[in-house]
Amino acid sequence: MLTVLVSNIKGGVGKTTISTHLAAAFATAGHRTILAEMDRQKSASGWLKRRSEKAAPIEGRDWTKQVGDVPDGPGRLVIDVPAAMKPKDVEDLVKLADLVVLPLLPGAFDEAATERYLKRLDELKSIRKNKVPVAIIGNRLRPRTKAADRLDQFLEGVGHQVVTRLRDSQLYPDLAAEGLALFDLTSKRALDIKADWVPLLSFIDKVA
Ligand SMILES: Nc1ncnc2c1ncn2[C@@H]1O[C@H](COP(=O)(O)OP(=O)(O)O)[C@@H](O)[C@H]1O
Ligand SMILES: [Mg+2]
Repeated sequence: MLTVLVSNIKGGVGKTTISTHLAAAFATAGHRTILAEMDRQKSASGWLKRRSEKAAPIEGRDWTKQVGDVPDGPGRLVIDVPAAMKPKDVEDLVKLADLVVLPLLPGAFDEAATERYLKRLDELKSIRKNKVPVAIIGNRLRPRTKAADRLDQFLEGVGHQVVTRLRDSQLYPDLAAEGLALFDLTSKRALDIKADWVPLLSFIDKVA
């Protein structure tokens, strides 16, 4: 199973939003999809509980007490982690992963903590050798703003590039409340915002 680890040292940057969206994108594309919950706050599993039975099916796994196994066979596994994980735990999870998706918020990216976290990831051999690529996502950004430019500059300085930028939209919290994601919708508004996800989904397809 292609395993995607969604991780950042910080809270509130969009990890669960991205995990649930990737799971919905994979499920609606017809993949067997598992969403593994590692956060004791259980936001991802709460979302899954609210999800209608009519929506594309996603299997939930509770990994809050213990990391489970990655099932054999085709399909996709998304791991939603809490903020502030111990370095050793991150290292163990990276061993399971085929890629890491790392969301950043404007204003957070220039902080030393993010830089330290990226450096720590880069110290892992599998990441350094690009066996496990890191997809950085600028979240809640508006294009052609100073914040977007600063993100690019910051990442260039630490040897990374942003794969895509997700715009700030009220649809994200609204959909989360219903156990849904943009990929479950076909409205014009949803289609428009879904375009932000195309570079990330093609990045993941290339890894797969
Ligand atoms: N692109 C976005 N536009 C608007 N709101 C967003 C966006 N991404 C995340 N949010 C909101 O920000 C809050 C934190 O996001 P969440 O995914 O729970 O972060 P984390 O899992 O990293 O703590 C949630 O209320 C979520 O709905
Ligand atoms: Mg979360």
